[in-house]
This record gives sequence, structure tokens and C-alpha cells, in this order.
Amino acid sequence: MSSNPAGSSSSDNRPIGVFDSGLGGLTVLRALRDAFPTENFLYLGDTARLPYGSKSPETIRKYSEQNLHFLARNDVKAMVIACNSASTQMRDDSFDGKPLYNVIDPGAQAAVKASSRGRIGLMGTRATVNSGAYAEEIKKLKPDFQVFSQACPLLVPLAEEGWDADPVTNLIVYRYLQTLMQEQIDTLILGCTHYPLLAGSIQRVTGSSVALVDSGEAIAELMRNDFTSGRLKKSDSDNGTIRICITDASGPFEGLSRKILGGDAPAPELTNI
Ligand code: DGL
Repeated sequence: MSSNPAGSSSSDNRPIGVFDSGLGGLTVLRALRDAFPTENFLYLGDTARLPYGSKSPETIRKYSEQNLHFLARNDVKAMVIACNSASTQMRDDSFDGKPLYNVIDPGAQAAVKASSRGRIGLMGTRATVNSGAYAEEIKKLKPDFQVFSQACPLLVPLAEEGWDADPVTNLIVYRYLQTLMQEQIDTLILGCTHYPLLAGSIQRVTGSSVALVDSGEAIAELMRNDFTSGRLKKSDSDNGTIRICITDASGPFEGLSRKILGGDAPAPELTNI
């Protein structure tokens, strides 16, 4: 990394801050790191208060604001809400004067682009499904498209266990997706950043004719446009770095983090927010 943390006037070496309730947001971080390998990242997993998806909108909003303040205090240049449940409550495009990204808007845009027949399925936490945020955004873009939603509350713990393509997970995913498959969806939004960790089980049930939309890739596309337009300044580091902070260290975070980000993923630091 350059010795000047802010970089030159045309660059900015401060990290991009990313948060989720747990490790699901690491799927977004992975997509961002792969898209922008010279950027530095600070990740916050609020593992002490996971899950968010079963909590009220007010509580999710309060936790999300606290997480964003933590990132802002750590001098990030932009912030990414790598959690659908939190994104439903925070749709502004800036926080503390810095660019703010949520996963709903790029996810809805990517789904509309991917859909061949205008029949879009959404799987998510109860908070995400009950908010109606995806359906609202998709209707704004394509009023004639139909959105079919299914809350899948059992999937986050399975993802946190690392149980992709396990017979138990396959069966639960099959049961959750029955109604959506009967509606003959052509596209399925993975409306929880934990779900890409279960993509094997999910695609096994949908078959290859249903396009899966992953928030991580959708948000990387949006940020690429902002780097091009100058809304975000690039880092001039040779190699980007990753720092991971978590608010509780009891779970299997470290092993799964290495599985998601690769063997050189840093050990998580326990932090107070
Ligand atoms: N990763 C979060 C999301 O995208 C869900 C996990 C949770 O319920 O906290 O909604």
C-alpha cells in the first residue's frame, strides 16, 4: 500500500467498508475483491447480533446505522451494505458524506436484465420478503413483470454451517422453492447474501434454465460504473488488502471465511462497534 493513506488527488487508498450480519457478506466482498483487486477493504460481520432477517425493521435499521458509523470512524471511502435485510432499511445513496451502496437496487436491475419472460422469483429472509423492496424496485423498472417471493428462514444457519449440496439442505431448498417453481419463474434472486453459499443446492432444484442473480456480482457492476464516472476514486496500491472485524468470535467464522475468500483470508479481529 502507498504510504499516503488518502492517495494522490486522483487516487484514494482508503478502504471500502462492507458490512453484513455475519459471513454472508463475504460473498459480496469476494465479488468486489475479484472485480477490484487493488482496492483495500474493511469488512464488519455483526456476528454478535446475527440473524438480522428475523428482526423488526426498526431494530435492523438501528443495527445498520451503528455498523455504518463504525465503518465511517474507520475512515472508509465508501460503504457497502452486503446484507439484503439491512439494505431494505437503508436505501440512501450516501452516509456521512460517503457513497453508500445497498444490494437491492443493483440486484433488481440485474434480475430485470436476466429475465426472459418477466417471471422473477425472490428468496430471502422474512425481513427482506416482508419489506416488498425488491418487488417495488422491479415494478418501477418493468411494471408488467411479476415477482413471486418466498421467505426461507432455515437457510442462513445452514449456510453458516457450510452445508451446501448436503442432502438435508437440498430437501429444505426443494420444499421452499416448490411454489416459485410452480409459478414457472425464469430468474431467481438470491435475496440474502448467505445464499450464494448454498448455490449448489439451489441450482440443483431450479435446474439450469432458471438464472440465479447474486447481489455480489450486481453491486460490483454498479461500482465499476462509479469508478469510471469518478464518483469513486481508485486506489493506487499494487495489491489490495482485506481486514475483517467481527463482533463475536464463537462461531465457525474463520474456517468458512477461508473457504469463501481463499487460504490467504486474514484472521478476523474481535471488535466493539
Ligand atoms: N446476509 C443477510 C441478508 O442478506 C441475512 C442474514 C441474517 O438474517 O442476518 O439478508
